[in-house]
Amino acid sequence: MINLPSSKLPVENINKQQLQTLINQATLMVADGNGPKVLETTQHTIIKLFRRKHWLSSAMFVPYAVRFVNNAFRIKKLNIPTVTPLSIKHCKTSCIHVVEYKRLQGKLLQREFEQKQESQLFVETAHFIANLHYKGIYFRSLHFGNIIVTDDDLGLIDVADMKIYPKPLGTSLRKRNFQHFLRYQQDRMLLKTYGMERFNSEYSAHLNSMISRNRFRQP
Ligand SMILES: Nc1ncnc2c1ncn2[C@@H]1O[C@H](COP(=O)(O)OP(=O)(O)O)[C@@H](O)[C@H]1O
Ligand SMILES: [Mg+2]
Repeated sequence: MINLPSSKLPVENINKQQLQTLINQATLMVADGNGPKVLETTQHTIIKLFRRKHWLSSAMFVPYAVRFVNNAFRIKKLNIPTVTPLSIKHCKTSCIHVVEYKRLQGKLLQREFEQKQESQLFVETAHFIANLHYKGIYFRSLHFGNIIVTDDDLGLIDVADMKIYPKPLGTSLRKRNFQHFLRYQQDRMLLKTYGMERFNSEYSAHLNSMISRNRFRQP
């Protein structure tokens, strides 16, 4: 028997009417072809809708909403700033899960780069990604639109799709993760302005320093 991870928050069932009320009372932030996706509530929390698109998807076993919540708790424990999940609701008839969370205060990295292409911010981003990889975090949605610049650090949003390994990522996973990153033309362009080589060398230097620091630590 497979042991599926259970949700770290209880899943409350709601009907279509209740789902509609939640949507109607909130302000739309992002929509896609299927309808509203990210909304802001009157209490300034965020609700994100997860639709199950295919009957035979892996989301049938562990819904993305549950993964989102569990990942947020796990990376928080690893000291990566992220959103704070508050609740999960499920509307069975619509095949929609709703996660409510407290926003991570700060600004989108993408927008920060558009306004000021500060080299210090590029260096911090390279170090941040090295830190994720050092902590075994393989974040499939890695791109500048899913990273928040907080007052004193960088952090992640949109955390449904990741795998967390108990040790630093190996070379092939790291490469693959950069490919995710470089899929976005906007991000590629920004990196080019700074210099891919420089970005890479900052990333590698930081990762190697963390690895060697840990290797020489006394047990
Ligand atoms: N915690 C948050 N803090 C600040 N902005 C957020 C937060 N969560 C979502 N947003 C805003 O909502 C947008 C979409 O959220 P995200 O979870 O990345 O959804 P999507 O699946 O559409 O990429 C972000 O680009 C950002 O502008
Ligand atoms: Mg996103």
